Formats: sequence, structure tokens, C-alpha cells
Amino acid sequence: METLSVFYFSGTGNTRFVAEETGKRLAERYEVKIYDISEEKNSAESAFAADKLLFAFPVYGSSPPVPMRRFIYANAKHIEGKEIFVIATQYMFSGDGAASLGRTIEKLGGKVIGAEHVNMPNNLADCTALKIRNDFEITKTLEKAEKRIDSFSRKILCGKRFRRGFNPVSHAIGYFCQRKWWRKGENAKKSSLLIHEERCIGCGICAAHCPVKNIVVEGRHAKALGNCAFCYRCVNLCPNRAISLFGKSLPEKQYKGPRSGK
Ligand SMILES: Cc1cc2nc3c(=O)[nH]c(=O)nc-3n(C[C@H](O)[C@H](O)[C@H](O)COP(=O)(O)O)c2cc1C
Ligand code: SF4
Ligand code: SF4
Repeated sequence: METLSVFYFSGTGNTRFVAEETGKRLAERYEVKIYDISEEKNSAESAFAADKLLFAFPVYGSSPPVPMRRFIYANAKHIEGKEIFVIATQYMFSGDGAASLGRTIEKLGGKVIGAEHVNMPNNLADCTALKIRNDFEITKTLEKAEKRIDSFSRKILCGKRFRRGFNPVSHAIGYFCQRKWWRKGENAKKSSLLIHEERCIGCGICAAHCPVKNIVVEGRHAKALGNCAFCYRCVNLCPNRAISLFGKSLPEKQYKGPRSGK
């Protein structure tokens, strides 16, 4: 049986869901192992020895998250010559979110034989313009997502290539509509996380769950260290809704992930 390693980064559970559901479907033909790249042990060389690799991540402004980009560069030598699938999750639109990482992989010598987008629920809980949906709407979105996962998994199983977003039009739309602006000042944005002291009770949940260890609790309050990866996990997990990032308000409703209602 061929082997496949799935590497994912996920802030609020959407990409993890897609990685796991894809893994279940591909188990028909592959021996699948799934790795969360935010866990240090998962950069082990043995994980890259698989016949094929799949990278899954959420798009942020049509761009792969910084931890996924770093992971790809750090493991460039394992990627060279490999056949690779790239799956991007998004709320609505990215143009070429998957191809954006796919092109980097190809520059490093990997062969992208599958790239796809999966629309998932929104997780930007502090943006009033993009409200967190109700359970019914989230269920509907997930049903559609599962159909998309079925569809690209079938292509993988029967060896059919699919390369969403690699054409020049999608590339231009992804770049000019979103990525160009998102990447501008990306470093400066790392200090944008706001922990509202008057609401924080120092419980430490945010610090315990941050995938890049950007939060510490000092005394009775949490403090951000200026190295945020924008994953929105803490914004959605804080029991006192004390954290905001890019939105203008504190979250009214939080997103608890695709498996929260099950
Ligand atoms: C900082 C940030 C930027 C985002 N930018 C986009 C975007 O450009 N287009 C889009 O459709 N969704 C965007 N989203 C939504 C997420 O990509 C989407 O909800 C994703 O499935 C979250 O995955 P996760 O739960 O694995 O973190 C953004 C989310 C965040 C937190
Ligand atoms: S999860 Fe919220 S209340 Fe708890 S320490 Fe973090 S910011 Fe404070
Ligand atoms: S500080 Fe919050 S939003 Fe930033 S990376 Fe950590 S958990 Fe994610």
C-alpha cells in the first residue's frame, strides 16, 4: 500500500476537520498519517518518507499562514521530487490560496499534482461585517464542504490531477485583491492582538492553546508577546471574550469549530 503524510495547520479546527475527513477517504488506497505542524515532534524526517505528501492550511488574505510557510522552507530538502497535494480552507474566497503555497513548493522542487479550496465557516469572531453563523448555517456549510472533500478525494484515489488557482487569472485576483495588501506590513500586524485587561481573569486558556506561544499570563492578566500568527484560536476560546485581533469589537459570538455541535 502507498503511504501518504498529511501535514496541517489549523487555528480553529476547520483545516483539522478537512485533513481528518480527507485522511478517512484516502485510507482506501493509502496508509495515511496525519500531523499537526504546530507540534514540534511532527517535523520528524520519518513523516516525510511517505510516497506522497498533503499540506492543508487556512488562507489569511489569500496567503498561507506564516507557520505553514516556515514549515515548508524548513523542510525544503524533504519536498524536492515529491508528489504533493495542497488543500486550502477559506470562508469565502481566495482566488489562488492553494496555488500560492503550491508555487512555493514547486520552486523548491516538489510536484503539485492536486490543489483545491474548501469553503468552511468563518472564524473572524471580532469582525461585525462577517458574523459567526448559527448552527444551522454552519451545518449547511459543512455538508457542502464534505461534498468538496468527497470530490477531490475521488480524484486523488483515481490518480486524476486537479490544480485549482494555478491559472494566471486566479493568480492575479488572489494577489491584487488580497495577498498584496495582506503581506504588506505582515510583520507589524504580529503585534495587533488586543487583550482587554478589564475583562481578562487570567485563566490561561489562551496561553495554553496558542500554537506559537504568543501569550503568557503574568499575575492575573494575559499578555501578548508580539508574535501572533493570526490563527484566531484565542479570540474564539477565551471564556470572557476578552481578546480581539483585526476586528473593531470584542466577539459577540465565538466559533467553536466544526465538531463542536457533534
Ligand atoms: C486572519 C484571517 C484571515 C482570513 N482571510 C480569509 C480570506 O482571505 N478569504 C477567505 O475566504 N477566508 C479567510 N479567512 C477565513 C479562514 O480562512 C477560514 O475560516 C478557515 O477555514 C479557518 O481555518 P482553521 O479553523 O483551520 O483555522 C481568514 C481567517 C483569518 C483568521
Ligand atoms: S483566556 Fe481570556 S480570560 Fe483567560 S487568560 Fe486569556 S484573555 Fe484572560
Ligand atoms: S495569539 Fe491568539 S490569534 Fe495569535 S497565534 Fe496565538 S492563539 Fe492565534
